[in-house]
Amino acid sequence: MPMKKLLVELGDRSYPIYIGSGLLNQSGLYSQHIRAKQVMVVTNVTIAPLYLDAVLKNLLQFDVETVILPDGEQFKTLDHVTQIFDKLLADKFSRNATLIALGGGVIGDMGGFAAACYQRGIAFLQIPTTLLAQVDSSVGGKTGVNHPLGKNMIGAFYQPLCVIADADVLDTLDDRQLSAGLAEVIKYGLIRDVEFFEWLEQHIDALLARDKQALAYAIERSCLNKAEVVAEDETETGVRATLNLGHTFGHAIETGAGYGVYLHGEAVAIGTCQAADLSRRKGWLTDTDVDRIIALFTKAKLPVVPPEQIDSDLFLELMAVDKKNVDGKIRLILLKEIGVATLPIDVEQTLLEQTLKSYGRK
Ligand code: NAD
Ligand code: GLY
Repeated sequence: MPMKKLLVELGDRSYPIYIGSGLLNQSGLYSQHIRAKQVMVVTNVTIAPLYLDAVLKNLLQFDVETVILPDGEQFKTLDHVTQIFDKLLADKFSRNATLIALGGGVIGDMGGFAAACYQRGIAFLQIPTTLLAQVDSSVGGKTGVNHPLGKNMIGAFYQPLCVIADADVLDTLDDRQLSAGLAEVIKYGLIRDVEFFEWLEQHIDALLARDKQALAYAIERSCLNKAEVVAEDETETGVRATLNLGHTFGHAIETGAGYGVYLHGEAVAIGTCQAADLSRRKGWLTDTDVDRIIALFTKAKLPVVPPEQIDSDLFLELMAVDKKNVDGKIRLILLKEIGVATLPIDVEQTLLEQTLKSYGRK
């Protein structure tokens, strides 16, 4: 499979996304983006035995240290970012050092945040190892951690110097995680790329069967969409918010159920179906559109019904903590049609409550 190179165009902070097979072993890809001797690789206990050695083999000419964090969304906290700072300081890392985040979205978000803060910013590279991280979290510079009162509430925009997405690492990803990544892939089709949505309807079985060509195409098309959105609106003053389709509901599910119970992609799948239901109540989507959306998530082996324990009152309370809200008012991304998202909008409380009380409820 030939390597693809996309560019996130951000002026003098533009950077490449490399997509392909066998990239983890291409030392030149890494070293061309590393400016000085000190390199800190941040990963977790699951990924380290699988891929850390392969990465370290490419870094023999550097002084490399590693931080191996526990695995899980519940560890995406300031305390664990502090462990990265502790190691950087104990090993006397200076400002020209480079941090490599090797892992899924949790490691990427925490590693990126540590890089953004350490000595007010050191270089960092993303090596995403989940489908979700390859199609979404490693691209665009959103970094940060969770707070007990809200998902991703502490963070910074901080762009990597490159993203290395090696489709081969997905071989070891379990089926549930693969499906979770597909939730964010489907999102791009829904918000801005109806042709891609239709392609996904045709190729969902191939993706679930891990057909390499299909996966590489889905990663590339997703990254292309994300790169265009980020280039247009890096700090989410406008169109970037559309990438949060379903996420306000989804974050409420993740927080309400307890971090780690629902995978991020699973919560987003449910939340997107709730957003689709609300878009129908607004008169934008048809019943057929909503059925198609639910059918695609279902075929992707994702949940589409909110957990019973989060009732509409709890949803409203949790959704009140969201970065899109203005003056405490909940604002949501909805769909005008499949392939066309709104910017964040105030939604009539009655319609929102109808969705929260009726969609997926017995
Ligand atoms: P994750 O990082 O928890 O990874 C999922 C699981 O897969 C973990 O157990 C991990 O150890 C394991 N794993 C990773 N790579 C593997 C591999 N190749 N083989 C076997 N196991 C592997 O979860 P995720 O879905 O990658 O990321 C979710 C996180 O990303 C959430 O915290 C979410 O908020 C964040 N996110 C951030 C952005 C952003 O723009 N920064 C966008 C979307 C999601
Ligand atoms: N995942 C949403 C964003 O990057 O803006």
